Amino acid sequence: MAATLRFDGLVVLVTGAGGGLGKAYALAFAERGASVVVNDLGVDFQGDGKSSSAADKVVEEIRAKGGKAVANYDSVEAGEKLIKTALDAFGRIDIVINNAGILRDRSFARISDTDWDIIHKVHLRGAFLVTRAAWNHMKNQKFGRIILTSSAAGIYGNFGQANYSAAKLGLVGLSNTLALEGVKYNIHCNSIAPTAGSRLTQTVMPQDLVDALKPEYVAPLVLWLCHESCQENGSLFEVGAGWVGKLRWERTVGAIIRQQNRPMTAEAVRDEWSKICDFDNAVKPQTIQESAGTLYEVLSSIDSGKGISMNPTSQHTTSSSTIDPAQAIGKKLPTTVYQYNHMQPILYALGVGMSTKDPDHLKFLFEASEDFSCLPTFGVILSQDAFMGGGLSSVPGLNIDFTRVLHGEQYLELYKPIPTSGEVRLEGTVADIMDKGSGAVILLDVNAYCGEELICYNQFSVFVVGAGGFGGKRSSPKAKATANPPNRLPDVVASDVTSVDQAALYRLSGDWNPLHIEPGFAAMGGFERPILHGLCSFGFAARHVLKHFANNDVTKFKAIKVRFSKPVLPGQTLQTEMWKEGNRIFFHTKVKETGEIAIAGAYVDLTSTVNSLESNATVKDVGLQSNLVFEEIGRRIKDAGSEMVKKINAVFQWNITKDGETAAQWTIDLKNGNGEVYRGNVRGRADTTFNLSDQDFMDLVLGKINPQQALLSGKLKVKGNLLQSQNLEVLLKDYAKL
Ligand code: NAI
Repeated sequence: MAATLRFDGLVVLVTGAGGGLGKAYALAFAERGASVVVNDLGVDFQGDGKSSSAADKVVEEIRAKGGKAVANYDSVEAGEKLIKTALDAFGRIDIVINNAGILRDRSFARISDTDWDIIHKVHLRGAFLVTRAAWNHMKNQKFGRIILTSSAAGIYGNFGQANYSAAKLGLVGLSNTLALEGVKYNIHCNSIAPTAGSRLTQTVMPQDLVDALKPEYVAPLVLWLCHESCQENGSLFEVGAGWVGKLRWERTVGAIIRQQNRPMTAEAVRDEWSKICDFDNAVKPQTIQESAGTLYEVLSSIDSGKGISMNPTSQHTTSSSTIDPAQAIGKKLPTTVYQYNHMQPILYALGVGMSTKDPDHLKFLFEASEDFSCLPTFGVILSQDAFMGGGLSSVPGLNIDFTRVLHGEQYLELYKPIPTSGEVRLEGTVADIMDKGSGAVILLDVNAYCGEELICYNQFSVFVVGAGGFGGKRSSPKAKATANPPNRLPDVVASDVTSVDQAALYRLSGDWNPLHIEPGFAAMGGFERPILHGLCSFGFAARHVLKHFANNDVTKFKAIKVRFSKPVLPGQTLQTEMWKEGNRIFFHTKVKETGEIAIAGAYVDLTSTVNSLESNATVKDVGLQSNLVFEEIGRRIKDAGSEMVKKINAVFQWNITKDGETAAQWTIDLKNGNGEVYRGNVRGRADTTFNLSDQDFMDLVLGKINPQQALLSGKLKVKGNLLQSQNLEVLLKDYAKL
């Protein structure tokens, strides 16, 4: 059986804990090891009177059972004082249960100002003041659990409780926002709408029901929500009689009433009323971004032209697309012609991060270079022209809401290197359509011809959100499949920092979606700021493969397949992890800052691989664990090199062995310039040369052995300046933590 939920060492404040639900919570927390502040003003159910006995009795009961508790008799309106009691008695505050409450039930017209205000003061303002007083303590200790007590009266309305319902639903709003603001400090906030027999319900429930609906049937939910192992946050639960259920918002698909360049009228709203209120296929937005995203879609669908958004993910779930596969499959798009000169390939190369800083890149950036070349992935750019102009909308059976279209996957195959300028004829076909439930996937095949010669083939997998459910097949034999990398550490890792203007630059290659540049659009789409085009990250990744396994020789590039899995923000670092298996290079691309995989299931097929590794390193070095460490040391030296050069001032050569043979050579130069790590033999002279196996190297890095032990046991052999091996620990420990 899983462990009991305990609260030892934690301090809980329960407001209004002198009776009813609050008392049940206080007893339950104390029984499970928490120190409890039992707050109660000791008022009657309408908030009149004052007494310390209610809180005292509960404290006595807890202590009698061996628990820890103190009383507090302040009103929740004195928020700080309640928290002070917790800090004075127990030194901390971890959990706040906002439970205190009163009733002033009146039919709406008879509610006095006092009745309105006192209900708001005790329930809503009281919870605000108490929680605010605890907030910074929770934030500093990076732990907090908060419960706000709502009510079915607030959720559904209840006759005679206008004041109470308003305050109670206000608490749900408060909880929703605290959940968002607290999450990064591990502060979770949830609300509950309990039903229990207590003096509050005595007036409205028959006595046998009051007796049956025990507060003890509510307390377990509160305990669980407040446990450190519970990740629930920002939710609302109904609970009572031994049952617990969770609530969420539901919204109809709704109807777009406004039409371009026409006034929106009340009559049009009336005429669409049944559609506006039709909960069939309703959606369940969970965030304000998801909710606002719909407005963004509506705006762009009414006001802007159509075009496929190449963003990799979207948060929205309504759609007005309808797809008839029987009509659409096999249909051709209108033929288009893409003309370009050297400008477009150069602009594209800059857009996917090439730079004159790297001498290797000049052949892609300077039209007069001897071997001026077009990046193979430019094959996608010229081919996307087949539908960027709206070609898909001419296909019968495809009634697509273009604001709901995402770029899911991409396959590109080259039959010859892409010319650096020319005229290409594009022939697109709807190859197949799949029904994925939440959406439809359209496979769009585009062949690009120079004259009669086929130069490349693309398969765009276009995901139309919300257009699924038409009873179609889930997979297609025509789909180019993604592939998972081998189950070992990557052979090569390459990374590049994208610039803050990466998307602004990349879009000039033809994807003009404002999502990639206009903050307002991005926000409405649910993104914190404009995101990078998926195909831009794709270009970075393909470059990494081309450089490391084909020495930037574009004639070796045969095909590439990727799946776009997460968005990337301009300025983030793209890290491509690559595995070589024959002529296939498996890869995925991560956002280094978050560790999230932005491009998944990807591979590049090369006609043959070139060992791009400098000097005499051989393919034997593929799969070495130490490669990753050296690459990481290299990246860190790039960041903090000059400091290390001053500190260490030496050049180290590493001969890494596997199965008794040298499998890789690396040089860590911490003497010249700002320092550098590179594959292969030292250029010049090494101060110290180390020989050891890949495994022993990893043991050193992971601290399983220290350099002295490694030396003594003969695992590590050192030539040259022995003293320098003392620096190894600094280098490996501080610089190689992966
Ligand atoms: P209760 O009347 O038994 O307990 C409320 C406690 O809060 C009382 O001991 C009272 O002295 C204390 N209190 C009132 N004003 C205070 C203030 N300003 N400062 C400190 N303490 C104060 O009521 P019950 O049923 O246990 O209710 C607990 C909470 O659950 C309330 O917020 C109530 O609105 C809510 N609730 C209860 C339902 C039920 O079926 N019992 C239904 C929906 C919500």
